[in-house]
Amino acid sequence: MDASPAPVIALTNGTGGAQLSIPQLGFGTYKIPDDQAQEAVTTALSVGYRHIDTAQMYGNEAGVGRAIATCGLARDDLFITSKLNNPNHRRDDALRSFDESMRALGLDVLDLFLVHWPLADSPGIDLAETWSTMIEILESGRVRAIGVSNHQPEHLRRIIEATGVTPAVNQIELHPRLIQSELRELHAELGIVTESWSPLGRGRMLEVPDVVEMAEQMGVSPAQVIIRWHLQHGLVVIPKSTHRERMSCNAEVLGFELSAEQMAALDALDRGERTGSHPDRVQV
Ligand SMILES: NC(=O)c1ccc[n+]([C@@H]2O[C@H](COP(=O)([O-])OP(=O)(O)OC[C@H]3O[C@@H](n4cnc5c(N)ncnc54)[C@H](OP(=O)(O)O)[C@@H]3O)[C@@H](O)[C@H]2O)c1
Repeated sequence: MDASPAPVIALTNGTGGAQLSIPQLGFGTYKIPDDQAQEAVTTALSVGYRHIDTAQMYGNEAGVGRAIATCGLARDDLFITSKLNNPNHRRDDALRSFDESMRALGLDVLDLFLVHWPLADSPGIDLAETWSTMIEILESGRVRAIGVSNHQPEHLRRIIEATGVTPAVNQIELHPRLIQSELRELHAELGIVTESWSPLGRGRMLEVPDVVEMAEQMGVSPAQVIIRWHLQHGLVVIPKSTHRERMSCNAEVLGFELSAEQMAALDALDRGERTGSHPDRVQV
């Protein structure tokens, strides 16, 4: 089976600057502790991933940075994302914590920096002000693109209206039990790339009988079926695993194709079911 890297998707950075692209398949690092992150990310890079997703909140940027420093790959061949943590939304905290992330990651320039959660109802926090600080960071030249995560339609409209700058990406929970049709349509209209977090539903999607049966029929694994579904929908997908064989198998998704009927059957599994928090419930 072909294990070549997945295709890339063009990103706009909101300022009309240089065109950038994001590898459609990335490696997620949530819940990988810092002292295991170097090994996990080194393994992911060695089996072909070139896009790594971390966050201030995960506490593993230093471990990810050690893997980047020692992997022997050219910086330009890697795409690194991090995210602004919830206690860091105020301007001074955002600027300081961005500096800390860059030191931990050992990078001069980050590829993508996201606002992790909108915190729309948190007292003293205004998502448009947070987004203005993200624009300031973009304009400093130390990040190639900025985006958001967990933003609902009203949050996207508010920050774009307030600043005129559209996020390059919205990273949201997305898998066949939560297909996020409304947000995906809005993203397409606004030119925002949709990135799927918990793309395997934290592993739960792999036990859904329809998925298991489809995988058996195709001679692939349930995880490959689900990752292929994301790719064929044009989504950026960042599965996490701490096992080399799973990392490798999850990246071997270019040698087969789901039919239109199979894609529709997976879409029909939508129940609006979240594995993580609803964005409106996350506060500082
Ligand atoms: N922006 C946000 O708010 C947000 C929220 C959550 C996640 N994320 C990002 O999205 C990434 C992915 O989401 P996630 O980590 O929550 O969940 P996920 O990628 O949907 O699922 C990970 C789980 O599936 C298991 N798994 C992976 N591949 C497998 C395979 N081939 N066969 C069997 N089991 C397999 C993993 O176990 P093992 O590790 O034991 O293999 C782990 O328990 C995160 O790591 C993070 O980077 C972002």
